[in-house]
Amino acid sequence: MTNLPQRTLGSTGPTVSALGLGLMGMSDLYGPADEQESIATIHAALDAGVTLLDTGDFYGMGHNELLLRDALRGRNRENAVISVKFGALRGPDGSWTGVDTRPAAIKNFLAYSLRRLGTDHIDIYRPARTDASIPIEESVGALAEMVQAGYIRHIGLSEVGADTLRRAHAVHPITDLQIEYSLISRGIEDEILPTARDLGIGITAYGVLSRGLISGHWSADRSARDFRGHLPRFSAENLERNLALVEALRDIAQERGASVAQVAIAWVLSRGQDIVPLVGARRRDRLSESLGALDLQLSQNDLAAIEAAVPADAAAGTRYDAMQMSFLDSER
Ligand SMILES: NC(=O)c1ccc[n+]([C@@H]2O[C@H](COP(=O)([O-])OP(=O)(O)OC[C@H]3O[C@@H](n4cnc5c(N)ncnc54)[C@H](OP(=O)(O)O)[C@@H]3O)[C@@H](O)[C@H]2O)c1
Repeated sequence: MTNLPQRTLGSTGPTVSALGLGLMGMSDLYGPADEQESIATIHAALDAGVTLLDTGDFYGMGHNELLLRDALRGRNRENAVISVKFGALRGPDGSWTGVDTRPAAIKNFLAYSLRRLGTDHIDIYRPARTDASIPIEESVGALAEMVQAGYIRHIGLSEVGADTLRRAHAVHPITDLQIEYSLISRGIEDEILPTARDLGIGITAYGVLSRGLISGHWSADRSARDFRGHLPRFSAENLERNLALVEALRDIAQERGASVAQVAIAWVLSRGQDIVPLVGARRRDRLSESLGALDLQLSQNDLAAIEAAVPADAAAGTRYDAMQMSFLDSER
């Protein structure tokens, strides 16, 4: 294992590599993935010193957790900080049918995840979305019982707003909030990020490459035939504007001898020691590009140039479609 820079998640959480690996695209949502390459990518991440691995029980309906179990076979479990999301309900056709965070459902989801992952504990366990029919206090109360029983080490949240963060944290310390944050998704800066800081809650930022859109590898002729095809920022009317922002970023990246993805990730890293970007690399070449961001030191001048090239709110389109936005506590 090499020595990657480390960051601590919140005032109560574990210390993890400053960059985490998100496994979602290895099982779901971003079109076909190569299983052998996915496992090789997880191995390469562990070998490079990445410790934070993020999954969800609903990513490929259990497939993502089974993949992680396979990848961790023969590895030291203690070198991995496994973060699992639960609560999203799927149909057999893969459709999204709702959210369930009732205490009995949480215990049931957890029992299945532990078995699929082949482990006796999950390091950070979090509801993927809030359940409008269950007060957050009840869900966090059930999670606190699972901490007491030793099945989970820490409680996280995902895509919640400041009010829910406070209510949850009053029941049991919350380690980190997983939420979208990137050069083109800066909504957390007004209220959510200051609240998390006030409470000592870390941020695991996802979508730092806006699902590939601002990676520098997306182009207008690459049509999104997967979940991204439903995201407004990839739609025909918005894509041109958004890719123009990427080209502005490319000029800056070239001057620094870096790639666009590295600049986008390094920008998120520069936003605070309490923020750990999750990258969704599905291949070893993408992973190694992402890890290169850890070596990129951005000066104040660089940061100013980046923000001038991609001003906050410059992106065209919302980060999810209207239906999905309505499920986000963080957007209320
Ligand atoms: N809490 C939540 O609501 C939530 C929501 C979404 C994701 N997440 C978590 O966050 C993780 C990351 O999210 P994300 O996958 O949307 O993030 P992302 O890192 O913004 O996008 C990942 C995609 O960008 C493309 N890409 C191009 N260059 C890349 C590079 N150098 N490194 C990595 N990816 C590159 C790849 O697409 P191609 O392979 O198609 O080129 C990859 O699948 C997920 O795996 C998941 O664990 C959480």
